[in-house]
Amino acid sequence: MTDARAPKRLFIETYGCQMNVYDSERMRDVLTPLGYAVTEKPDDADLVILNTCHIREKATEKVYSEIGRLRAHKERRALEGKGMTITIAGCVAQAEGEEIIRRAPEVDLVVGPQAYHKLPELIARASRKAGERLETDFTAQEKFDALPARAPDGVTAFLSVQEGCDKFCTFCVVPYTRGAEFSRPIADVIAEARSLADKGVREVTLLGQNVNAYHGGAAFTDLLSELAAISGIARIRYMTSHPIEMTDDLIALHGSEPKLMPFLHLPVQSGSDRILKAMNRKHDGAFYRDIISRVRAVRPDVALSTDIIVGFPGETEKEFEATMQLVRDITFASAFSFKYSPRPGTPAAGMIGQVSEDESSERLQRLQSLLFSQQAAFNASQVGRTLPVLVTGKGRMPGQKHGRSPYLQSVHFNDSQAQNGDIVDVRIIGSSQNSISGELAVLTPA
Ligand code: 5AD
Ligand code: SF4
Repeated sequence: MTDARAPKRLFIETYGCQMNVYDSERMRDVLTPLGYAVTEKPDDADLVILNTCHIREKATEKVYSEIGRLRAHKERRALEGKGMTITIAGCVAQAEGEEIIRRAPEVDLVVGPQAYHKLPELIARASRKAGERLETDFTAQEKFDALPARAPDGVTAFLSVQEGCDKFCTFCVVPYTRGAEFSRPIADVIAEARSLADKGVREVTLLGQNVNAYHGGAAFTDLLSELAAISGIARIRYMTSHPIEMTDDLIALHGSEPKLMPFLHLPVQSGSDRILKAMNRKHDGAFYRDIISRVRAVRPDVALSTDIIVGFPGETEKEFEATMQLVRDITFASAFSFKYSPRPGTPAAGMIGQVSEDESSERLQRLQSLLFSQQAAFNASQVGRTLPVLVTGKGRMPGQKHGRSPYLQSVHFNDSQAQNGDIVDVRIIGSSQNSISGELAVLTPA
């Protein structure tokens, strides 16, 4: 017999970008008042949500194999007299909703990224086996207006301020899955940030597919400055950005606003001008290099991060070498790099000169070994410095804490006093490719 008082179990699996991480957290907030509590395992869940990513083919394929695994759990639970509602959310839901319904009868609900505020109603409807299983037609504003207050997990939080994209890079599905650019009104964003600060959040990362294209009744720089005026918020970051939206004001703010962290994620995609044009990135390599040197001029210690695609259709060895050269010249603290993946309906998928899988893999390997060595070198360059670290939780060992450096590095350090949310000085004594470590600095008074 099931205990009616026992919480219903909710399992959410998140794929893809930070926007999906944010959306998953908000889906949980929507479902908590209905008595759902998060579980780490899908097999004993009453409700499973796969928050999916459509950006590359591999990410999409994963969804169908995961649905296959869930089917077995659902069948076993049915024999035990228990149900399991399987929900597909996110960008695959938006792009391939009809196909999911057709291919996967065990899926109860398909919910697009602008419709998840309706989850309670949709779940009730699914349990009555009444009506449509597909809900993908809403506006972003409708969703944000309907969402409940935030319940942040810790001292850092994502805050979605902009969704969608009008840039139409020829390789990318986002303009089709997330729709046109939409910015939340500045007053709504500030209200959400204030409520996060009241709940102990110290670091906010503004999210958007093109966050620096924000235009919610104010410029992006105005939004950043208003956020910086909230006393509880100590650190601000934003991602992801487009180079053509890096205004002079935004670059200047990196030099003048101390709460804006010295970290910039700015996708370049390629170092070859011909490929950048074929990608419809709307700028060339020199434009990107100029932005970087201007950001470095106002904030010399800024840690740079980027996204790069190898094997775009028609990419020659020489053009790939131009990407390698750009990476050598700029030096990144971290980066995401991908093999080009043709996406149905995008212009690049039909371009001639598709690069073979072997060639792309080989290029990716060469690029990643360069990027990883730059990341390790950046981490190593912090050894000997004392960094202000935001304490985010316990470390792996007793007496150890975990935190975040201004450069978005993961920091492990020895200390038993510091509380989550404190910003403490840590002397860095060790580094690896993925993190740095140290000990609480004893400050000698000046
Ligand atoms: N193939 C490979 N990588 C892609 N990205 C976007 N679309 C594709 C694609 N079709 C990468 C870009 C983007 C990041 C989020 O994903 O580098 O900046
Ligand atoms: Fe995709 Fe280009 Fe828009 Fe980024 S800017 S979301 S890569 S279309």
